[in-house]
Amino acid sequence: MAKKVNGNTEGIRESLLARLAALYEMRMAIDEFASHALVAEVCAITGVLGREVSVYIARDGSVADVSVGDNAKVDMPDMRLVRNSDRLCGVRCLHTHPGGDGRPSGVDLGTLRSAKLDAMASVGVGAGGNATSFYAAFLGDRKDDEREVVVYGPLRPYRLPQRQLLEEIRAADARLKSSAKETGEERPERAILVGLENDEEYDTIEELAELARTAGAKVVGRETQKRRSMDPATYVGSGKVEELKLLASETEADLFIFDDELTAMQARNLERELGTRVIDRTTLILDIFARRAQSREGVLQVELAQLKYGLTRLAGQGAALSRLGGGIGTRGPGEKKLEVDRRRIRRRVYELTCELEEVEKQRALRRARREKGAVPLVSLVGYTNAGKSTLLNAVSGAGVLAEDMLFATLDPVVRQVTLPGGTPALFSDTVGFINKLPHELVDAFRSTLEEVVNADLILHVADVSCPHYRAQMQVVEEVLADLGASGTPRIEVYNKAELIPEKPSGKPGSLYISALTGAGVPALLARVEQELGSARKTVETLIPYAKYDAMAFVRSEGRILLEEHREDGTFVRALVDEASAKKLRHMLGQDG
Ligand code: GTP
Repeated sequence: MAKKVNGNTEGIRESLLARLAALYEMRMAIDEFASHALVAEVCAITGVLGREVSVYIARDGSVADVSVGDNAKVDMPDMRLVRNSDRLCGVRCLHTHPGGDGRPSGVDLGTLRSAKLDAMASVGVGAGGNATSFYAAFLGDRKDDEREVVVYGPLRPYRLPQRQLLEEIRAADARLKSSAKETGEERPERAILVGLENDEEYDTIEELAELARTAGAKVVGRETQKRRSMDPATYVGSGKVEELKLLASETEADLFIFDDELTAMQARNLERELGTRVIDRTTLILDIFARRAQSREGVLQVELAQLKYGLTRLAGQGAALSRLGGGIGTRGPGEKKLEVDRRRIRRRVYELTCELEEVEKQRALRRARREKGAVPLVSLVGYTNAGKSTLLNAVSGAGVLAEDMLFATLDPVVRQVTLPGGTPALFSDTVGFINKLPHELVDAFRSTLEEVVNADLILHVADVSCPHYRAQMQVVEEVLADLGASGTPRIEVYNKAELIPEKPSGKPGSLYISALTGAGVPALLARVEQELGSARKTVETLIPYAKYDAMAFVRSEGRILLEEHREDGTFVRALVDEASAKKLRHMLGQDG
């Protein structure tokens, strides 16, 4: 049976298809790069067809694949998936340029690099199917993180230096092997970002780029498409998918990162069509979290979130397409997720939940002990990279990790600080918030974030030098509301103020500081002390058993520091604000 001619064969008449299929029967001699007969036949077919024809030749001289591209597009069936980093793929491509110009295009060279072809040869075909010029490109030495290309040409199509060209394949192979040894092939993963353009002014693609950088990727392309909603099958439209495929060849991309959560079907379709690994924003964020989690609780929480997210979509070929040794989206405690089936994942989710409950109990104990000490808790919250860790350093003098990386802080850090008037307070740093924070993550981190809900005061830190800081503050407020912390008193702290020439007017009482230079920090601490002092005071009272509504009121409005059941009622010591203290006195009939 004749082998299949790949690519765009629509409308090609039978006799020509048969000639294309017959190319599979041709064979190069052992010392031939491309035989005279092969070059003549592909050019003749191109002359009639007016389309590009590609022939892939294996090392043994046989023709491994024949395909027809439309115009400038070389379609590379499955070959882009060959990602053996220290070897050529063992196949050379010979293809035609119907316009008459044989020089290799950017796409040709990109394909040579990304597929690690033995060689990419191009023949210009003029009127009547005449071969005009012949070029052959090979992978050269590595320069920075790109590979140079060695090009032979223009050569006379029927006078090819056959042995020399074959020799160049061996040289390219040797170059690849030696540099793989030197560098350990630790080049960053190359990512193309894809998003939908929407009317919001907030540039989520820019933020996605920042996230990709944090995950260690190099962004080699960004594409957005204007459309109101995502395509249910492929997120972007089919024309865009074609463009993306071409861009991947040109830029040697290792993966695509989509700006929104993809459904399992979208991810599968896209991977199939693009022939390149596909991940989404959530997977990227989870990957970053996986690398950053340090405490036992953090590690467990991330694994749980990864598994829960994976469970809903169990990515298709993600693992198969990834480079050896993983890559973005495959790291972390959940990296085994693709190997195990759903049932085992469910069991692991159950185990993790139990383990986490245990850790959380201990946290609750610690919290309870702290509450006995009655040291008020101040929680720093803010968008990722706002400068929370830097501020915590500035107020506590401790060496908390501050990095110009998103999510440097994953595990909650608590430091004791003495305020200017002598009041002790605990300051806690929390995980940074972000737009489209995966809800699996919010769920998994709920117990950590509960520190925030329990806080006496929230410092909402914003990076005022960022043009989108208002939108970022909005995101933070939404997460706080979701956690049930809307009612907790807060101070808005506009950080990095030294970077802006003029201070925009914020809410009354908000403060401008620079955590980096320390400017405004003493004033902030004084404000914190004032706020904590005025906000709450300790009351001690005996609540008769009959007055259970008063007891319920203290529980909901204040913080109980001591609770003793005595003969005539419950004796409580509690922190409550002025208004609640007054109301309590009223409830107990003590206000007169
Ligand atoms: P996440 O861990 O992502 O939540 O970040 P974070 O909010 O803890 O931010 P971090 O303290 O790590 O600071 C982020 C970057 O901003 C670092 O490079 C800091 O040096 C820088 N930074 C923090 N405060 C200031 C400031 O007042 N001025 C300037 N110019 N840079 C600052």
